[in-house]
Amino acid sequence: MVHRRAAARLRGGDRILWGVATSAFQIEGSLDADGRGPSIWDAFPSDAGETGAVACDHYRRWREDVDLLASLGVNSYRFSIAWPRLLPEGHGRVEQRGVDHYSRLIDALLARGIEPVVTLYHWDLPAAYDWRERDTAERFAEFATVCYKHYGDRVKWWLTINEPWIVGLLGFRLGLHAPGITDDVRGEVTVFHHLLYAHGLAAQAYDHGHNLGIALNLFPHYPASDDPADAEAAHGSDGYTNRWFLDALYGRGYPDDVRERWEERVGRLDFVRDGDLATIAAPTEYLGVNYYAPRVVEAALDGRPWPWRVVVPDEWPTTAGFTGGVVATDAGTPIFPRGLTDLLVRVHGDYGPRIMVTENGGVFPEPLHDTRRVDFLRDHVAALREAEVHGVDVLGYQHWSLMDNFEWKLGYAQRFGLVHVDYETQERTVKDSGRYYSELVRA
Ligand code: FCB
Repeated sequence: MVHRRAAARLRGGDRILWGVATSAFQIEGSLDADGRGPSIWDAFPSDAGETGAVACDHYRRWREDVDLLASLGVNSYRFSIAWPRLLPEGHGRVEQRGVDHYSRLIDALLARGIEPVVTLYHWDLPAAYDWRERDTAERFAEFATVCYKHYGDRVKWWLTINEPWIVGLLGFRLGLHAPGITDDVRGEVTVFHHLLYAHGLAAQAYDHGHNLGIALNLFPHYPASDDPADAEAAHGSDGYTNRWFLDALYGRGYPDDVRERWEERVGRLDFVRDGDLATIAAPTEYLGVNYYAPRVVEAALDGRPWPWRVVVPDEWPTTAGFTGGVVATDAGTPIFPRGLTDLLVRVHGDYGPRIMVTENGGVFPEPLHDTRRVDFLRDHVAALREAEVHGVDVLGYQHWSLMDNFEWKLGYAQRFGLVHVDYETQERTVKDSGRYYSELVRA
């Protein structure tokens, strides 16, 4: 089903949004400033024991950072609003100082011709809440409504939830993200559902005067071999990471094969109530796609909880067939630009939304002369252009990230920025990749 909201209804203008992305908890610091309430991440340290207490000190240095954005020449900037700054208790009382902070930021961006792309939920959940509880979705819709009310006149691009799959998997099964719960497989799928439901409620609460969508992290899938069992495994994994979310969002309900798999594992999904799927499928104007890596999958009947394994192959599919040499970022993530083309063409073909790439980037530690990030950018932007040639309606590209920042469990060691941050002095220095991107977006 092609989503029914027609292109003509978009009110963002026609230019492609070239920008950079961040999220509140990863850059702001100042966790106690201006009446902010606690979030689940405040007391969830990285492996090295670091926290977001200071991060990039952006909450205090935001003016300087807007200057930095302007100096890069980007025409858009994706950032998130910290729920606990606006609603310190999670609901009810609105903290005016929090509201004012983002209001000033939005005005400063607009004054520089930079379009704000605003994420409402980028993981800094008020500490009292838990996504396994349905109420949290209703609380989220209340928060979204506060944001629409205060910023809806100026923000033309909203994203409700960032990466529901990661929130459920890393937060409730692998224990790598706050709240750090391990092996709660039923919790994982409950969280997926409540996040989608929260998105749907927030979409219903929006007047659609401008554009709203969700940001999913999606993976192009490739079977590891010609063996039909690997093809089936790849289809299963695609169901788990991609179709579960896309089918529900685009009005098809949850896919049967994936639902059956969940039910075998965790029993009836009775947290899915009548009407929820209609709510989840509430119309939106666009889809945010975060692309980092492909999944090459092989069958593994002993795999737990799913009968497949993600493998790093010795060779990659290219237009010339499979060729050797897997290049990876310093986080070990395979670099595979063609995956972006494949993914976008597939999402376009199967679901038909307008698409903004809301994250894409890699870990390259070189402080200033980050040649590999320059190559990464060049090749992924080319892959994006290739998707356009295949008919994908591309609204924009937000590189992750503006600057090095707090990479969750991995702390400050993993550098994703186009701009280097010296955490001792908070000095920002544009890397070669930042200069390259600057030339690219100006052209
Ligand atoms: C994504 C997150 C973002 C950042 C990048 C590297 O999964 O949305 O906050 O951590 O990965």
